[in-house]
Amino acid sequence: MEEIKIPAHVGIIMDGNGRWAQARGKKRSYGHHAGSANVDRIVTHAFSRGVKALTLYAFSSENWARPKEEVDELMKLLKTYFKKFIKKVVKNDVRLIVVGGKEQLSEDLIKVIEDGENSSRENSGHILNIAINYGGRQEIVHAVNELIKSGEEVTVENISRKLYTAESGEPDLIIRTGGEYRLSNFLLYQGAYSELYFTDVLWPDFDEQELDKAITAFGSRKRRFGKV
Ligand code: IPE
Ligand code: IPE
Ligand code: MG
Repeated sequence: MEEIKIPAHVGIIMDGNGRWAQARGKKRSYGHHAGSANVDRIVTHAFSRGVKALTLYAFSSENWARPKEEVDELMKLLKTYFKKFIKKVVKNDVRLIVVGGKEQLSEDLIKVIEDGENSSRENSGHILNIAINYGGRQEIVHAVNELIKSGEEVTVENISRKLYTAESGEPDLIIRTGGEYRLSNFLLYQGAYSELYFTDVLWPDFDEQELDKAITAFGSRKRRFGKV
């Protein structure tokens, strides 16, 4: 059997929670609960397939513009998620990194996040980046400002080094669930040569088999990086 190529770093735009709930006659928050419950099984499966790093888009810089009730619910869910899974993550040699503008998050959420990051800092088996209050454009601006502050030259390589996901390298594959064909400000700089995979499956329904389909599709892509 031919060995299948496994993407080392996978980014996932976890979209479609609201529509998943609406299709069941429920409020959007019901979909967010189902979506958050799905994170663990996909993380577990991806790492078991040999993926080294995962970057999950949980909340964009633009998602603050949603109704306050929904934003509050999402922040509450994130806190619950971290509290619940940190121990498991640490035990499984996963390093947890939150990527995005942390300053704008609530103090108690920042505290749970930092607990998770600190207790997993020495882990080297896998990296789990969770993107919260994340925007690709904002990340590039942040990286350039870091370079300016330290007096370093602004070059392609130096910007790469200052990105939030620098530890994970560039994503080989970016998956978007939920049927939209766009990046919505996700990994704009590091995604320059990522393979893109779009599926209509809504995030709460995206299971192990669906992830396998994406990995198989990646395996059949010819990556040229501008060469012939
Ligand atoms: C993705 O699902 C979760 C977040 C953006 C936080 P959505 O909430 O965007 O669900 P749809 O796209 O409205 O169905
Ligand atoms: C992207 O989904 C953000 C996350 C999945 C966290 P959105 O639902 O916010 O994206 P748009 O508004 O459809 O572009
Ligand atoms: Mg959406």
